[in-house]
Amino acid sequence: FPPNMIRNFSIIAHVDHGKSTLADRILEFTGAISKDIKNKQVLDKLQVERERGITVKAQTASIIYEHQGQKYLLNLIDTPGHVDFSYEVSRSLSACEGAILLVDANQGIQAQTVANFYLAFTNDLTIIPVLNKIDLKTANPEAVKEQMFTLFEIDPDEVLQVSAKLGKGVTAVLDAVVKNVPSPAVKCNINTPLRILLFDSWFDRYRGVVCLTLVVDGSMKKGDYITSSHSGKTYEVKDLGILTPQETPIPHLYTGQVGYFTANIRDTKDALVGDTFHQRGAQCQPLQGFRQAKPMVFAGVYPMDQREHTALKAAIDRLCLNDGSVTVQTEASSALGQGWRLGFLGLLHIDVFNQRLEQEQGAQVITTTPSVPYKVRIRGARAIRDYRGDEVMVTNPTLWPDTNVIVETSEPFVLGTIIAPDDYLGAIIGLCQERRGVQQEIRNLDASRIIMMYKLPLNEIVIDFFDTLKSMTSGYATFDYEDLGFELSTLEKLDILLNGHPVPELSTIVHSSQARKIGKSMCEKLKDTLPKQMFQIAIQACIGSNILARTNIKAVRKDVLAKCYGGDITRKMKLLKRQAEGKKRMKMYGNIEVPKETFIDILKR
Ligand code: GTP
Repeated sequence: FPPNMIRNFSIIAHVDHGKSTLADRILEFTGAISKDIKNKQVLDKLQVERERGITVKAQTASIIYEHQGQKYLLNLIDTPGHVDFSYEVSRSLSACEGAILLVDANQGIQAQTVANFYLAFTNDLTIIPVLNKIDLKTANPEAVKEQMFTLFEIDPDEVLQVSAKLGKGVTAVLDAVVKNVPSPAVKCNINTPLRILLFDSWFDRYRGVVCLTLVVDGSMKKGDYITSSHSGKTYEVKDLGILTPQETPIPHLYTGQVGYFTANIRDTKDALVGDTFHQRGAQCQPLQGFRQAKPMVFAGVYPMDQREHTALKAAIDRLCLNDGSVTVQTEASSALGQGWRLGFLGLLHIDVFNQRLEQEQGAQVITTTPSVPYKVRIRGARAIRDYRGDEVMVTNPTLWPDTNVIVETSEPFVLGTIIAPDDYLGAIIGLCQERRGVQQEIRNLDASRIIMMYKLPLNEIVIDFFDTLKSMTSGYATFDYEDLGFELSTLEKLDILLNGHPVPELSTIVHSSQARKIGKSMCEKLKDTLPKQMFQIAIQACIGSNILARTNIKAVRKDVLAKCYGGDITRKMKLLKRQAEGKKRMKMYGNIEVPKETFIDILKR
């Protein structure tokens, strides 16, 4: 297939708007998969994806489609739908010239529709607007077309209507892809040396990393030597082909084609999404837009049972092989033992990773409350030497620099998009304000729904923002966010002391306006979960030497004499003395026995 007979496109949609169903129908239609296996959703490979019905890893399929007597090669690039994976979405989109913007005709435009539309728009993709689920009685195509016009200026006459479930209207969509989406010939060149864009990869135990690529310039065959622009490492191509969606080896991948190759790459970190590979020794301008996916949410992961430590390490390593965006550092906690601090792209990413650890690797883990990275600028020659620079990236509160060397602190912000029925306007504004949000825009999407943009600290949304938003709007609100980078903010480290002794695991970084509130709630929570002991326990929350909150747990007095009926007074004295000594020993060590369960209760989400 010459480039002008190829179309590279993807489907973008809000969760559950029917992307996988439509993809399945397209594959069935073109004979790539058999019709008998209904609702198989072949593109969603991982078990987690099936269970949660979400697409995590981008998958792709090449199909041959006949339009007006001509055969075309259509490459359907399946993108992950969720905000955590927006970098992967954007990389996958850069391998395409067009995108099907799929909107549920019943639910209308949702937050992710907006975010994905702008990603496609900024990637200069031709957009094919499609309404799905028109078979539903509650579908309201006219109203949704109007929303598409209001927000994206899409001409209502251009909007196609399908029922992916029933397979209705699918040919019209494929015809529109052939007619309207430009061929990759616009950006590809047959006659220049090889340049390929890597837009997805996964690990295969036998062959190493399998890379999914778009051949932008030139062509590639088995035995070619190719070099990564990012790492400079060179590999020999062992095997290549197209996905139909099964791997189908072919001798060459030509300009404009999408396919896979393996080259004995042993580490997914050497096959980074967005990297450009070129012919060994050739001069090459890397394709633009490469950036390494940055972890934005960190959490401690510990084995439930320390004896499982080695097995868990192996399980994490295996998963990381398949997910180059997870970062791993060892971490130790006196309460939870040896573990790791893992960096993730977002909250869903943590959940997916944990679920995969449990399901695919059979691991039992404790995951601590997630936190975001902070930037701290410091002064003082010594501190700068210790931290190897005047800017410190803190991903673990225990490593927060001393107050007297801190010059300024900053935290990551996001631009959040919320779409909801307008009845909830007041409640949502309240929630965003409470989470330190700054309103950027509010407008009507249609007669009954609003779209709001808020600038929010990432820290305020990592834990329960989305759940709170969902429950306060009876599930109607949708939310998505994009990264705005770091901004200055007054942050402090909040410590928890038990009888004057800090408990490092319980330290957190907080915005100064919220220190008191958070400190108080931590104290209350500890009071409820810590078991009573033989002596009083003072729980304090403080910043430096400044105590912000305090509460006590009264002592239980164990009646050591309960079993002595009458009898010898010296025996009673002995028992009482031993009890007093025991108490002294505990206090002497400052030793509050905090059971592991308490930590798990408090540190777990
Ligand atoms: P993510 O992978 O999470 O992005 O979801 P998705 O967009 O791929 O949605 P999926 O294809 O899994 O469909 C979501 C639900 O909508 C499923 O229960 C489908 O059966 C249903 N669905 C999809 N298309 C149609 C349709 O045309 N009509 C009706 N009635 N239901 C549909």
